[in-house]
Amino acid sequence: MTEASFYERVGGADFFTALVDDFYAGVATDDILRPMYPDAELSAANERLRLFLIQYWGGPSTYSELRGHPRLRMRHAEFKIDAEARDRWLQHMMAAVQNRHLPEPLNEELTNYLVQVAHFLLNTLPDDIAALHNR
Ligand code: HEM
Repeated sequence: MTEASFYERVGGADFFTALVDDFYAGVATDDILRPMYPDAELSAANERLRLFLIQYWGGPSTYSELRGHPRLRMRHAEFKIDAEARDRWLQHMMAAVQNRHLPEPLNEELTNYLVQVAHFLLNTLPDDIAALHNR
């Protein structure tokens, strides 16, 4: 018998729907992040992140059927993700994760993943540090 996927262990699509809805409720109020999202209702962005996370954690691969390979670094290149934007993103996502009250080790597994990817997507340094590169 194969071990249940993370997706199955957290209860399937409903878990990710609730997580991503809470996350975007936070983004909607955020003065740094909100202007980055062109989508008036945030519903298309909500659906993309929801389907991506479902696929990543072992659920249906609808994300790739619709969007192709995730290529997250490339898809985020057009947004200015400095430490402040990254931390805001994580702040809303960690609040959303806490609302789900996942048991350990599932909670830690999800948290570690999200923190790592958020750091990996950093693509903008503070101006004073960037200037050192250009001297
Ligand atoms: C570090 C801070 C982050 C910022 C500021 C950020 C911002 C954005 C923005 C503005 C978009 C475009 C919205 C749209 O789809 O219309 C986007 C898309 C997306 N983001 Fe992020 N993001 C961050 C981190 C992450 C992380 C950690 C993940 C995954 C764990 C992620 C996954 C995605 C996905 C899957 C999409 C849709 C890609 C597509 O199919 O086009 N993002 N993000």
